[in-house]
Amino acid sequence: MRIVVTGGAGFIGSCFVRLALQNPSFNIINIDKLTYAGNLENLGTVGNDPRYQFIRADICELDDLRAIFDEAKPDAVVHFAAESHVDRSILSPQPVFDTNLRGTFNLLETMRARSVGRFIHVSTDEVYGSLEQPLEADERYPLQPSSPYSASKAASDLLALSYNKTYKLPVIVTRASNNYGPYQFPEKLIPLMIANALDDKPLPIYGDGLQIRDWLYVEDHCRAILGLLEKGRDGEIYNIAGNRSLPNKEVVERILHITRKPATLVRYVTDRPGHDRRYALSSRKLQQETGWAPQMHFEAGLAATIAWYGYNEEWVRNVRSGDYRLYYAQNYAGRELSSTIAS
Ligand code: NAD
Ligand code: DAU
Repeated sequence: MRIVVTGGAGFIGSCFVRLALQNPSFNIINIDKLTYAGNLENLGTVGNDPRYQFIRADICELDDLRAIFDEAKPDAVVHFAAESHVDRSILSPQPVFDTNLRGTFNLLETMRARSVGRFIHVSTDEVYGSLEQPLEADERYPLQPSSPYSASKAASDLLALSYNKTYKLPVIVTRASNNYGPYQFPEKLIPLMIANALDDKPLPIYGDGLQIRDWLYVEDHCRAILGLLEKGRDGEIYNIAGNRSLPNKEVVERILHITRKPATLVRYVTDRPGHDRRYALSSRKLQQETGWAPQMHFEAGLAATIAWYGYNEEWVRNVRSGDYRLYYAQNYAGRELSSTIAS
């Protein structure tokens, strides 16, 4: 099976590529723009695998996508590429709109004109918005996104599903909870707190730190997607939950405990605007239809993740040394971007 993966140099996409290549019948074509979040180091030695090909391209460039698909002739597409960070989406919504909406539209249009098999659109529990205790969102729960990021994901989910209804494109939408694990960019809660704690830097907790997130180990997420490639039903949405809900404050306390760093590193800082209080998800449908269940316990996953960041300080230094202001200036202040197609 020839699978086009978008965003395969990011945190979850790179994990998916590494796992998928363990199946000898899979060939992967990885399309990634390599934004600040995309890093080919995340793929390790995968680059040497003859069943793997990397193409640097921007999914906002429709003609490039068409050329890539004409050559690659994929049997399936797994779409991870996105601007994935809520805080950045609040600071600067334009790139979120471009990649998450227009990029997804371009992929759907490219597929509509070709007979490509399954399209898995990787989305998020954030589309359901904040849920009061003891509510849990199943796949029919109303969409109530709060941030430009989650609104862009909700909109692209609906667009993808409309291509199934209208054009019979074999689309599946997945909605996962908060991922954690190795290679996550140290802007998200867990890797940021680990990297800062290891460096004796302050740990900024937004608001009162009692916001609740459900934690899913990244490999469990990718196994769920692999299962859906095989057993999922077209036109359906599948939630993917880690079944481990914790207040942010407690996550940070656990990181301090494992790294043996003092609580004095914690700083309570101004809350995120529009901050969702609680996410809670049911993935009963996925479990019933594919037999999937999360395998990694949070305690073991967090310890393994902390150990990984401890051994990979150079990776952290490398990804942190990117100058974001330069990145934004180059890409969104009117400079013409032409994506490159290189095999
Ligand atoms: P990430 O930010 O680590 O990686 C995103 C990747 O997409 C990067 O490699 C980046 O270079 C690439 N990319 C960005 N814009 C692009 C463009 N215009 N063209 C081509 N490539 C581009 O993100 P992640 O955390 O790995 O998330 C992957 C997907 O999973 C996203 O769609 C996100 O919404 C979804 N998701 C993430 C989580 C989570 O907790 N991280 C949870 C649920 C769903
Ligand atoms: O729920 C799935 C979503 O999880 C994904 O769709 C997103 O791509 C991913 O970024 C993530 O979004 P969150 O906003 O939940 O993740 P983040 O790691 O940014 O924040 C987790 C919680 O921690 C949130 O309540 C905000 C809080 N936080 C975050 C940071 C970065 C802090 O208190 N301090 C921080 O410095």
